[in-house]
Amino acid sequence: MMNNKNICKDGETLSEEFANFFLRETQNKPVFHVALSGGSTPKILFDLLAKEYATKFNWQTIHFWWGDERCVPPTDDESNYKMTKELLIDKIAIPPQNIHRILGENAPEKEAIRYAKEIEGIIPAKNGLPRFDLMLLGMGPDGHTASIFPNQIELIKAEPICAVATHPESGQKRVTLTGATINNSAEIAFLVTGANKAEKIQEIFNKEGDYKKYPAAHIKATDGKLSWYLDESAAGK
Ligand code: 6PG
Repeated sequence: MMNNKNICKDGETLSEEFANFFLRETQNKPVFHVALSGGSTPKILFDLLAKEYATKFNWQTIHFWWGDERCVPPTDDESNYKMTKELLIDKIAIPPQNIHRILGENAPEKEAIRYAKEIEGIIPAKNGLPRFDLMLLGMGPDGHTASIFPNQIELIKAEPICAVATHPESGQKRVTLTGATINNSAEIAFLVTGANKAEKIQEIFNKEGDYKKYPAAHIKATDGKLSWYLDESAAGK
């Protein structure tokens, strides 16, 4: 069920609306675990948080995790962590121990096991799985989310917390949270921009066409809340 759909004019207004939601969610919480997404959409959000919200959040209470990471060094331009560090982490007073990056420089299989153990050791569980307070997700033009691609849709139902995925075109190895852990989050928020997502967004919302082949269509909050933040292009306006 699509719990909540926010259509915003463009990436900037979408980021502003989401930033205010994110801020409200963190208030009066002694600890807040958020898993960040990668790609290009969050860049506007991270830049906004650094420029306009650096002093509004109590960063001491917030822990950054990643929903997925490319298996590259943290200095590589492909790294989601590098993008986040440059746009946000280096500009806010978040304690280094609150940054839990996926070590892209490690062997993928070993890192998937290591990261799952780090998550289990720190994030409280519910329904037998770690429960992130907030899960930020994007959606690719093929309907993938995190690094769960249509040709590996079995990762949606996979029980382990993390898995190794392979990008269908580039063959690049990724470490990704699996659908069971993603769906167990208290709040799940898709931030989706771009006209190249509009057709699949429509299919997912209307449960039509090949929507069942899109991993993003299988993201359903187990007992939390799912929200979509779409710019007008992605919403087909
Ligand atoms: C990644 C992301 C991925 C991303 C989508 C959308 O590591 O690339 O986690 O799932 O969210 O591909 O990317 P854009 O925002 O660039 O369209």
